[in-house]
Amino acid sequence: MSAVPTQGRPVELDDVQGLVRSGYGGLTACFLLLRVKDPAAARAWLARAPVTSAVRTDRLHEQALHVAFTSEGLRALGVAPDVCAEFSAEFVAGMASDPARARRLGDVGASDPGGWRWGTGARTPHVAVLLYAGPGRLAAWEREVEAQCAAGFERIERLSTSATQGPEPFGFADGISQPKIDWERERPVGDHDRLDYDNLVCLGEFLLGYPNEYGLYTPRPLLASQRDPDGLLPRAEDAPERADLGRNGCYLVMRQLHQDVHGFWRALDRQAGGDADRRERLAAAMVGRKKDGDPLVAPGAANDFTYQSDPRGLRCPLGAHIRRSNPRNADLPPGGRGLLSRLWRMLGFNAAALEQDLVASTRFHRLLRRGRKYGDVAAAVRSAAAHPSGAEVGLHFICLAANIKRQFEFVQSAWLVGSKFAGLAGERDPLVGHRLPDAGGFPTDGFSMPQAAGPDCRLSGLPQFVTVQGGAYFFLPGIRALRYLATAR
Ligand code: HEM
Repeated sequence: MSAVPTQGRPVELDDVQGLVRSGYGGLTACFLLLRVKDPAAARAWLARAPVTSAVRTDRLHEQALHVAFTSEGLRALGVAPDVCAEFSAEFVAGMASDPARARRLGDVGASDPGGWRWGTGARTPHVAVLLYAGPGRLAAWEREVEAQCAAGFERIERLSTSATQGPEPFGFADGISQPKIDWERERPVGDHDRLDYDNLVCLGEFLLGYPNEYGLYTPRPLLASQRDPDGLLPRAEDAPERADLGRNGCYLVMRQLHQDVHGFWRALDRQAGGDADRRERLAAAMVGRKKDGDPLVAPGAANDFTYQSDPRGLRCPLGAHIRRSNPRNADLPPGGRGLLSRLWRMLGFNAAALEQDLVASTRFHRLLRRGRKYGDVAAAVRSAAAHPSGAEVGLHFICLAANIKRQFEFVQSAWLVGSKFAGLAGERDPLVGHRLPDAGGFPTDGFSMPQAAGPDCRLSGLPQFVTVQGGAYFFLPGIRALRYLATAR
């Protein structure tokens, strides 16, 4: 699909679900996973569901509601099969659809979809309703919405979440780094070869229907105009004769990630030989930030840093969670700005920079995180290694992206779960990776911390700390697309 000049054209914020623009930090949340019981009644609710738009998200909302569908949900609502088939292959197939995908995502062993609480078989949700409300108001809001959808849906799961303040269950500040979305559409379309890391990301990386970081429109369902005789849908920017069912929507990835807080701190205590300071340093090295969020590579820099000054990972290990999940690199390895230097780097002659060239360019693999922690997180953080092993705490991981495969699946499989990343081997992400041997039978339960002099300091025998207990791929439509899906046959 070709790019057209669209820079500066305003975004239809009233058609975008507000979750793309805001994580509703001040509001408590719960997520209802529903299955269609009566398609006509379900569609009737969806046609008027009080969905919150992205207009005014800068001001505090008192409550918000968002609706997203799985592909099974679209089919259950009666959306035509040829329309369903226009969505991306991984969305159509679903997160737990086949063993090869499960293996790539690290959903093996204790995280095998066979053991999930929801997300497979009859426990695959059709619709996720995400509810947010101000202090003390969530229960009433939930009762109101449940009464509205009772005729059309049955609830298979209610995912409650903890208050947003305070750290995640392992005790670290979370929700610090997010991509900045180019809502003003200032970035030039097709900005090839970014020489520096930049946190400003094209709108099309997160919203369908707008140019992405390649300067192209991410594939999405474009319908012949006869499929939209009432003109409910916007027309495609790059194909004005087609109705754009994707525009102003995006994919939403949801995973229930159980955290073994007791196991995490006990394992680190063992590795540290009971030395409390060393235990804290090891934990920070695994995350890449101290508990208060201070980045190891650039103390005091908050979120304004790259790893360019630490190519070997002496300050922040190459395998630290935040370095794996966002290596903050540019399209070419670092170097001068002149034409010659650029050519030199493009041809791979800059030996010093080669190790940084082992990792794909970050800008095509950004995630907008909207997850919430669950369980008694305050108790988990307080008691750490003394916390009961089976306690129900963790993260309802949610991320938004225009392309599930290139963004979520790539980050999860190549960078987090991959046992070969940035020249490392024998280790996966220290927080979220499983520890099963790799394809060649080699152990992957290590974690390396390079030292200025001498060999890497290397931990081994790390247990698995995070287990997947459910998950699904959803489509979070634009609001006009939502109304269209409620009526489409
Ligand atoms: C229970 C599991 C997880 C825990 C405890 C966890 C914890 C954290 C923490 C403490 C941070 C640093 C604070 C921040 O920058 O917001 C962080 C950052 C991040 N995490 Fe996770 N995380 C988990 C799962 C995941 C997964 C599954 C993904 C992606 C598939 C992911 C992607 C990211 C990204 C992209 C960042 C920001 C990195 C940056 O831009 O510097 N995390 N996580």
